[in-house]
Amino acid sequence: MTATSVTSLTVNTRVYEGQKPGTSGLRKAVKVFQQEHYTENFVQATLHALGDQLTGCTLVVGGDGRFYVREAVTKIIRIAAANGVRKLIVGQNGILSTPAVSTIIRKYKTQGGIVLTASHNPGGPDADFGIKFNCDNGGPAPDNVTNKIYEITKTLQSYKIIPDISIDIDKVQSVSIEVDGRPFIVDIIDSVKDYVEFMKEIFDFASIRKLLQGSADKPAFKILINSMNGVTGPYVKQIFSTELGVDETSLVNIKPLEDFGGLHPDPNLTYAKDLVNAIKEGPYDFGAAFDGDGDRNMASKIHQKILGKKAFFVTPSDSLAVLAANLKLIPYFQKTGVKGYARSMPTAAAIDRVAVKNGVKFFEVPTGWKYFGNLMDAGNLSLCGEESFGTGSDHIREKDGVWACLAWLNVIAGLGKSVENILLDHWKVYGRNFFTRYDYENCDSACADKMMQSIETLVEKPDFIGKQLQYEGKEYIVKQVDNYSYTDSVDGSKATKQGLRILFADGSRIVFRLSGTGSSGATIRMYIDSYENDPVTFEKDAQLVLKPLINIALELSELCQHTGRNAPTVIT
Ligand code: G6P
Ligand code: ZN
Repeated sequence: MTATSVTSLTVNTRVYEGQKPGTSGLRKAVKVFQQEHYTENFVQATLHALGDQLTGCTLVVGGDGRFYVREAVTKIIRIAAANGVRKLIVGQNGILSTPAVSTIIRKYKTQGGIVLTASHNPGGPDADFGIKFNCDNGGPAPDNVTNKIYEITKTLQSYKIIPDISIDIDKVQSVSIEVDGRPFIVDIIDSVKDYVEFMKEIFDFASIRKLLQGSADKPAFKILINSMNGVTGPYVKQIFSTELGVDETSLVNIKPLEDFGGLHPDPNLTYAKDLVNAIKEGPYDFGAAFDGDGDRNMASKIHQKILGKKAFFVTPSDSLAVLAANLKLIPYFQKTGVKGYARSMPTAAAIDRVAVKNGVKFFEVPTGWKYFGNLMDAGNLSLCGEESFGTGSDHIREKDGVWACLAWLNVIAGLGKSVENILLDHWKVYGRNFFTRYDYENCDSACADKMMQSIETLVEKPDFIGKQLQYEGKEYIVKQVDNYSYTDSVDGSKATKQGLRILFADGSRIVFRLSGTGSSGATIRMYIDSYENDPVTFEKDAQLVLKPLINIALELSELCQHTGRNAPTVIT
């Protein structure tokens, strides 16, 4: 602990347009954040939005290790000090995964935290950066808070800063500085300790260890984990190597890199191809990959018996439903009980069926993890997930990639079955929701808006309901259409225009929405969900089963004509 005395400065600034936080904070190119005063403005506005809570508060700060995290941490320390913050809890080297930030906010009951990440977007000087504020419940700030931050950025004339403060964030230490006569403390903490301790309370580590190590009558269950050079590396190393005894050769890309080693750290079939190929060719029973900031996950496994040496991945929608059906195998839920399930609107409806069968409360919310938080805080929700590779529970208020992987391993250990048998048995009971998502990235914004507008006009026509849409002999009857809106059952807040939905008589759905997380242009997402309960379909390829609906969606939206794109950028 050192004690020096410094005073704050007020720096005149200029307003930057467009500092509006999206689905998950303010996300822009690094070059945008590097503009003079740009980052400072947004940090000042974020602190300002805390209102009465600001003076004397404690905040957590950390990021996913991408380029510019270090600079941003330094700026936040200097600005927080000048604005009357009492204490910052900062991850060593500036590293904290998004789930770890949420864990630490809740554990130490801080007033919130600042997460420095652009999640699964690429990193490096020519790529993306982001700043996200999480509230005292550990979850992403809801719309009323992010709107407040945005309003402040529109008129901000100055910010407060103490440029002389410089603290070595690579060293675990507690530093105390006297600022304008008040103590200001910066605790640089071990990035993984609190999170790992928490995981050990939630899961049955002894049985997972036994599964992974094997026993006299059972060979070791072989896993491959890929951290995609993102923030989960140190967490994965501690949990899977130190705690669970997995050989480090099975843990790849576990050193966080500022540019993610050139990878696009999004664990889907396109960007995590390495994992899928390794699983296809190697001796593995299970594989998992995580995104840049550690909140997303993908689980995959060779579907040997069924598709013949072909890697398949468990869709996030199925992953959620399987976990829901088996939650009672996890010690945490044995203690807390199962309060409710939820999914985002575009996520396939597989979990809905588990909820009905088990008599558990169920909620559908718009895309964005922030919508789950109120339900959890009100004690209505235990498990939730999104099609965008996010799964989590009320242990924190973020989705949690490593948690999801451990949850699967806990379930596998408990059931004593392979991943494919778990899924096949699940479908036998509940039927299968086939799901796919087509992404058209970086489209011209005006064209994308025009497309959404014309779909809306088309589906609003009175005779659209009841219409029979056909492709190659398969027919779907339109039952309901809307631009999805949601009223929060806890605080009554309303979210509108959350996606165009075309719902069919057989429960199938087509959904169009524009992504809220891109950093340039518009990303169009087209979601297709269709339910089958005939066991002969269960082992079929989703792209084949969904082909008619995909074509119907492309035709009615005239997506190719509007965007000039013949094929999606990514299919999941
Ligand atoms: C982030 C959010 C998720 C959301 C996802 C996709 O990961 O945390 O809650 O589902 O982005 O958002 P987008 O608007 O790009 O579809
Ligand atoms: Zn993420």
